[in-house]
Amino acid sequence: MIDFKSILEDIKQQISLVEDKGNVADYIPELKNVNKNAFGVYLNVLKNDNFGVGDYQTKFSTQSITKVLTLALAVAKKTDDVWKRVDVEPSGNPFNFLTLLEVENGIPRNPFINSGAIVIADILVSELENPKEGFLDFIRQITNDQSIDYDYKVAASEKETGFKNYAIANLLKSFGNLKNDVDTVLDFYFMQCSLAMTCEQITNAFYLFANKGKCLQDKLHITSSQAKRINAIMLTCGFYDEAGEFAFEVGLPGKSGVGGGIVALLPNKFVISVWSPGLNKKGNSKLGMQALELFTSKTELSIF
Ligand code: DON
Repeated sequence: MIDFKSILEDIKQQISLVEDKGNVADYIPELKNVNKNAFGVYLNVLKNDNFGVGDYQTKFSTQSITKVLTLALAVAKKTDDVWKRVDVEPSGNPFNFLTLLEVENGIPRNPFINSGAIVIADILVSELENPKEGFLDFIRQITNDQSIDYDYKVAASEKETGFKNYAIANLLKSFGNLKNDVDTVLDFYFMQCSLAMTCEQITNAFYLFANKGKCLQDKLHITSSQAKRINAIMLTCGFYDEAGEFAFEVGLPGKSGVGGGIVALLPNKFVISVWSPGLNKKGNSKLGMQALELFTSKTELSIF
């Protein structure tokens, strides 16, 4: 029997000794106001037990982590149509890179770089009567938690400085890969990225990807085949130009956000979320990655 609780406590202790905690994202001004020393982990071992250490009940900005959740809702609504508009290849470039989109005629490499997530946001704007409420409702359903909400200040802050995302959305529009207005789609995209959640809530939300599409309440939201595919994209594209490094160090499908969160999972076994706000140069949580590397090494649980 693995003693998960003491492994997580050990990791927290080891991580607290690391001096270089990375740098908090500042291109969204509102994200600067975060305590760099915060650190939390929450683990759900399927059909078994839950464990939390540190600040696992503090809400933070989920940012790109939500790209997996909007994708799940889009495939649940539109199934295969999604893949005509977004590819499933790693980009090997930063999350907000523009050049590839022009060269590849407005088809984003994958749904987790900003261009791909903006196409997914466009699909949800078309599919949902009220996208902002519909997406929040989906998150509250899969977590069985009505307390989850957007952070309107973060969304407004990103809108004020989201020049690259405006450039991406306009480029998509010029190639005919954005059906709705640029402003409407980006207003929804900034809102989705502002979703504030704790490590515990993120782990609960991602449970369905480890559990063949069924959420914690045992309700089926996506098929097991859709869950398999989304996990594959998390493995190959979840960390942008650091996806190879994450697979090498940690060996799990996962997704990061510039709020400093990372969620990772081993299908049928566990879901784990980590939060440490300081980022490395690729925009992924520096200590979050280290903590997950320690976790899969100590438990010897990874997909490899
Ligand atoms: O669009 C953006 O730039 C942010 N809302 C999300 C970027 C992000 O989280 C990248 N992940 N590491």
